[in-house]
Amino acid sequence: MSVPQRARERHRELVDQIRHHDHRYYVLDAPEITDHKYDALFRELKVLERDYSELETPDSPTQRVGGAVAEGFPEVRHEAPMLSLQSIHDETELREFTDRMEREIGREDIEYCLEPKFDGLSVELVYEQGRFVRGATRGNGEVGEDITSNLKRIRGGFLPPKLKRVHVPGRLAVRGEAVMPIASFDRMNRDLLERGQEAFKNPRNAAAGSLRQLDSGVAASRPLAVLAYDILVWEEGPVPRPETQSGVLRALGELGFLVAPERPIKRPAGVFDSPGRAVEGRLEPWWEIGRGAEEVLNYHRRVIKARDRFAVELDGVVVKLDRLADQRELGERSRSPRWAVAFKFPPGQADTTLLDIEVQVGRTGKLTPVARLDPVDVSGVKVEHASLHNQGMVQQLDVLKGDRVRIQRAGDVIPQVVAVVERRPRAKRTAWRMPERCPGCGQPVRADGANHFCSGTWSSCPAQRVERLAHFVGKGAMEIETLGKRLVEILADEDRAALNAKGLPVRTPADFYQIEREALLRVPSQPAGPPLTEREADELAKRLAAVRNRPFECILVGLNFSGVGPKRARAVAARFPDITSIQFAWAELATLIGAKHAPSLLAKLETTATQALLHDLREIGVLDDGIQPCRHSPAYEWEQETLAKAVVPMAGKDALHLPNTTKLLVTELFAANLVRRPADLFRLSKNALLTLPPRRRRPFAAKVADNFLRERDASRSVRLDRFLFALGIPHLGQHAARVLAARYGSIDGVSAAERQDLLDIHEIGEEMANSVVTFFTDDNNRADLQRLLELGVSPVWETMGESTLSGLLIALTGTLPTMKRNQAAKLIESHGGRVASGVSSRTSLLVAGDNAGSKLKKAHELGVPVASEDELLQLTRSEKTLNDLFASPA
Ligand code: IVH
Repeated sequence: MSVPQRARERHRELVDQIRHHDHRYYVLDAPEITDHKYDALFRELKVLERDYSELETPDSPTQRVGGAVAEGFPEVRHEAPMLSLQSIHDETELREFTDRMEREIGREDIEYCLEPKFDGLSVELVYEQGRFVRGATRGNGEVGEDITSNLKRIRGGFLPPKLKRVHVPGRLAVRGEAVMPIASFDRMNRDLLERGQEAFKNPRNAAAGSLRQLDSGVAASRPLAVLAYDILVWEEGPVPRPETQSGVLRALGELGFLVAPERPIKRPAGVFDSPGRAVEGRLEPWWEIGRGAEEVLNYHRRVIKARDRFAVELDGVVVKLDRLADQRELGERSRSPRWAVAFKFPPGQADTTLLDIEVQVGRTGKLTPVARLDPVDVSGVKVEHASLHNQGMVQQLDVLKGDRVRIQRAGDVIPQVVAVVERRPRAKRTAWRMPERCPGCGQPVRADGANHFCSGTWSSCPAQRVERLAHFVGKGAMEIETLGKRLVEILADEDRAALNAKGLPVRTPADFYQIEREALLRVPSQPAGPPLTEREADELAKRLAAVRNRPFECILVGLNFSGVGPKRARAVAARFPDITSIQFAWAELATLIGAKHAPSLLAKLETTATQALLHDLREIGVLDDGIQPCRHSPAYEWEQETLAKAVVPMAGKDALHLPNTTKLLVTELFAANLVRRPADLFRLSKNALLTLPPRRRRPFAAKVADNFLRERDASRSVRLDRFLFALGIPHLGQHAARVLAARYGSIDGVSAAERQDLLDIHEIGEEMANSVVTFFTDDNNRADLQRLLELGVSPVWETMGESTLSGLLIALTGTLPTMKRNQAAKLIESHGGRVASGVSSRTSLLVAGDNAGSKLKKAHELGVPVASEDELLQLTRSEKTLNDLFASPA
């Protein structure tokens, strides 16, 4: 039965989607869709393949070994909630912890059990009558995924299937960390890459990805181990349950579990690569008892020093009260125990060269020096820029272009330059200074405290303008997502865009609402500039010169035969030594790449273009298959289009892996007469690449234009707080914008607010109040705002609760019986009231709790009614009115 085109397309779509989600789930361990949705996609694929068996190719996700993908893992409820640990990062925080422990336990010589903190995924293991019966991931802490079958297949004794001692508890639940030793991780990644598969980012992802495979054969083939550190359930028997954490670790070791590595052994021969040696080398375990902050700090330092020699990845040390009775006494917070902390290692650092100090202009004109760096990997993330905050910071670091600097990144924060490690020798070191003129507009720079600002404004400085416009359409503001910074730059570019009614580029937010489709389609979407930056040209030139002897399969991928991706190319390359031999074995080729693709591959191979390409590749030594290139290359005249079609795939990641070789670049190279045949590319120097004329300007794509227009039109009905935030009023963040919206309920209300009125609001301070008033008294701002409203932007605010307190200015004092102060303030605001910081004649009501002081006195003096917490609640529910309170003061 022939397969209808629609079915074929849907099949392709499903396979692509499933592959994508497999990658998110297994490799990145960061799924984007629920298991349920995944199952639905999978079922649909199976049905299609059942109906059209031709679609059921060997590489379809339905054909995976084990095939047990569809169901997901069953859920298991944990024996005890799996808590996590509170993190601390420095000595001060550690001392706070030890001081608190001493206070709460009432002793000074407290013993802490100190352990390495393993970076893997936490698992619960249950043993019954000494046999491993169930294992689960952490899940949400209460319920996890049942991964028993995967854990059972961990080989090499790194998870005991049977407990070792004669007397074992009838039932035992243990908690531990599943990890992949670093050496095994490196080896596995090498294998994966060699087989053309995706490598894992770090050992933790690799461990998680392996254990969450539905095909337990995969877990079996992956080098995993579980390091045990806690006993959750211990059914009493002849052997008593340990009474200390150190006793727990000792017992776990005796029962046959791996606990903290016994001693750091040099990589790659880690403890886990040779279990026999681990027992033999039982010198000193890496957990120990410490007393007081000093000993903890000392342990922390020693582990950091030895960190690189551990066979597994660590990310800190864990400090636990040793006596379990003390642990019980202290108990738990909602998600973590009070008796333990994770003392993390300092953030990742790396050294690199500072290429330049650039100055960025912010939305309010603030100038920030930014370090441009020779790209460097800092704990798994490529860093190219780092913040230098302000001139003072640069001078304090005494850093200049060309110096070696130390970069630090912690979590998701912007990387920072923390020190200079080596200064570039130079005749004279003159301290770096802010430029005297704004790099965005050339106007003078003025200093304000530690910071520098462009003396221009939005209307006179293009750099500020772009930032302001990008902020307006950005996240948390109007959220017109199609417009990234680059497109905003284009729309605001004086030289290019003629978009608004007056035939000008976008200058104020209102202009966005006047753009017409026709005008937009005429705007060139590429910014003018060379096709490659100097760095890109440099990188490409280096790679071009170095690309020789890529494996045959890469060339196959680069030849871009339909249906032949990296995986099939590998299969073909494994079977055929070179291109020529393929041509004589088409039946076999068909079994490798399918009956449909084989003939088309052979046909393409015979074309003069492909022959010419192969000739050129041989000639320059990129393809070395033992075949001599014939003296005269096949006469083939490359057109710009065919050249790009051949070169771009050949440059791709799985082929020759040449960065930045886009179609645009090839087109430019062709037009500049620099590349007429594919081989010419390899003769290019960096200088030749840099001689290219500025980028050809392609107009806005209709799709981008339509998306923008749709989003823009939808953005007209915007929530008031988002609109206020979008206006870019200095100092006004998203939270304060919400407070203002809740208080005034309309843009007219906010723009007419008086300073004192604003200051009466709980969360609004001096600086913000001034900024709001200044903003709305500025004529330009008022005109811009007016235009936005005229163009149909209509901010709306719907209060969450009923506005039962609307118009009331309420002050709080003393300790309320059930609510904290900020909860009461939230309650008042959510019912349309305002919270005042003090009592004055304008105060409508004072809510007083215990120990009320001067405010209560003042309220009585001024005749302001006073209410209890309960009465406040009655007011919000309209069970009482303010008048009732006047009648009966609390
Ligand atoms: S004790 C109730 N000890 O770190 C306390 N945790 O948030 C349970 N971890 O999820 C944790 N090594 O997966 C403990 N020696 C160790 C650990 C350890 C690694 C993990 C554990 C937990 C996370 C902390």
